[in-house]
Amino acid sequence: MNIAIIGTGYVGLVTGTGLSSFGLNITCVDIDKKKIDLLNGGKLPIYEPQLEDLVENNAKEGRLRFSSDVAGAIRKNDVIFIAVGTPPKEDGSTNLASIENVARTIGENLNAEKLIVNKSTVPVGTADYIKKIIERYSDKNYTVEVASNPEFLREGAAVRDFFHPDRIVLGTESEHALSILMDIYRPLYLLETPFIKTDVHTAELIKYAANCFLATKISFINEMANICDKTGANITDLSKALGLDGRIGKKFLHAGIGFGGSCFPKDVRSLVNQTEKLQYNFRIGKAVLDVNRKQIEIALNKIVAAFDGSLNDKTIALLGVSFKPETDDIRESPAIYLAKGLLENGAKIKMYDPKALENAKAELSSAKLSEDAYDAAKDADAIVLATEWNQFRHLDLSRLKTIMRGKLFFDFRNVYPKNKVAEAGLKYFAIGR
Ligand code: UGA
Repeated sequence: MNIAIIGTGYVGLVTGTGLSSFGLNITCVDIDKKKIDLLNGGKLPIYEPQLEDLVENNAKEGRLRFSSDVAGAIRKNDVIFIAVGTPPKEDGSTNLASIENVARTIGENLNAEKLIVNKSTVPVGTADYIKKIIERYSDKNYTVEVASNPEFLREGAAVRDFFHPDRIVLGTESEHALSILMDIYRPLYLLETPFIKTDVHTAELIKYAANCFLATKISFINEMANICDKTGANITDLSKALGLDGRIGKKFLHAGIGFGGSCFPKDVRSLVNQTEKLQYNFRIGKAVLDVNRKQIEIALNKIVAAFDGSLNDKTIALLGVSFKPETDDIRESPAIYLAKGLLENGAKIKMYDPKALENAKAELSSAKLSEDAYDAAKDADAIVLATEWNQFRHLDLSRLKTIMRGKLFFDFRNVYPKNKVAEAGLKYFAIGR
């Protein structure tokens, strides 16, 4: 089977590469010629563990190609996956410009019956809209079906998630489309991955429901952490006890400074926006966003209060700026929001991140870049651990104490045992402990 994947972002690139590992013949296309040149030169436009080797091997074996000829790829392939960006607009609604563009190009180049599979996260009803655009721009009468196959991979764990998904969701209108998709994903089916075969609207909504539920878990545990702070209870023990209830589950119960990234904030906002248009008040979604925004404020207030109300001339060593570990992505990063708050309050920042420093430079132009955690901590008044990269989990605390000017340690991802930090002579602050 010949498959084109339109869009070589996280989703498109990982999906295309993963499917080529199943032995399928894949062409990944993008209108961004720079990205395609990079990929053809053996380089990746994003950082994603394990992906580079996989791309290299599949390209070498001739199953994976990269091209900027979108029209040609549409004409030459039987199945077209759409994996383009659907960024948020100012009002929280979804910007469908790239989707519309792709749909139009598909319409203009439709030269046979094709299955279109949408992987981008899109408002419910978008597959119908894509089909309408294709039909409007096509002068032929070929049948097109637009299926929905939402993606659940996480940045930083995308390759693993591709090969070991919790489930595959297939939203189709016909048995024919379903059988093509089942064939594509057969290697996962053989590994007993659960398949949810449903209609297109349900598949589209499943994606939002999953992200909104996970975001809800995070906002819930962050509120519990804030209540722990008020009552003297301990969020680590509380989370553990909660998570051991099989009905609740252990995952996504880590309190901190909130969720970020290109998905959770955008998707919760989008579902709030979609439901507003349907005259439905998605109360939980709104509360989840509100708690997430406030969590940064609460963390900032902790720092300001520890310095008796003023950060003027204080130097803060910021450890971690990406929205989570194992990625260079800083989109909606809580660490960046916190850093902006610190700067607005008069603090100076020295920051270090294993992968995201380059990206953070533009956002935090007045912050100094450091070479590692110790370089950042040198002469700092406080350390703020904002993103829990593994390499920050075993810092030499006594060494930090010696090189710092002050002795405050804000562990906003609850990584360290309190007494360990205190024993090193540092003053420890966390979230809910
Ligand atoms: C998320 C979902 O987990 C994926 O299933 C989904 O496919 C993806 O969005 C998407 O829609 O494309 P991702 O944004 O890569 O993936 O990141 P996550 O690992 O889910 O983390 C999101 C945020 O939540 C991070 O800022 C992380 O630090 C935060 N988080 C996560 C917490 O604060 N506490 C937790 O317990 C877990």
